[in-house]
Amino acid sequence: MEEIIERVVLNSEEIEEVCRNLANQINIDYKGKRLLLVGVLKGSVPFLSCLMKYINVELMVDYVYVNSYKGHEKEMVIVHKDLDINFSGLDVLVVEDIIDTGFTLYKIIEMLKGKDVASCEIIVLLDKIENRKLGSIKPKYIGKIIPNEFVVGFGLDYKELYRNLPIIGVLNKNLYRGKR
Ligand code: IMP
Ligand code: MG
Repeated sequence: MEEIIERVVLNSEEIEEVCRNLANQINIDYKGKRLLLVGVLKGSVPFLSCLMKYINVELMVDYVYVNSYKGHEKEMVIVHKDLDINFSGLDVLVVEDIIDTGFTLYKIIEMLKGKDVASCEIIVLLDKIENRKLGSIKPKYIGKIIPNEFVVGFGLDYKELYRNLPIIGVLNKNLYRGKR
């Protein structure tokens, strides 16, 4: 693992602790309500799984799958999978591994806007806040703010690899030599 990871950002125990603390806050804020956790595929799967173990309010789980890429003039986001569950009247919490520019979550919030949800908020495990381009996208819950470095592990990938690492760390720059 030494060659893949340059520096550990969160080890397994720290990830567990962050999830427990976030869930404790959710349990207070959503007491007596019914939550719909909307995981953003694929990266949020380990985070969502860890987080929901500690949530004690009634909840349902669904997933959306979107991809973003640089278009001619702006960032484009393609929706591959929309929600299956009827979210009418539910308190929606969009669960994402990391927020960077904010374009991906902006698209997902746009999809949910105008729908008949009781509320719609965002939770992220990691936030690269200094790289944000869309200031209107503000997660209600943030696990940890990190610098603008490329991280992998615990769901986060580099070219679909390293999602299985039990820790989160900065990817060794020799592996991509400046190209992500
Ligand atoms: P945004 O649309 O720029 O906010 O980017 C969010 C998406 O980019 C996340 O869902 C991740 O898939 C990906 N991403 C951003 N930064 C990283 C990183 O450091 N490691 C792995 N994936 C990342
Ligand atoms: Mg992602």
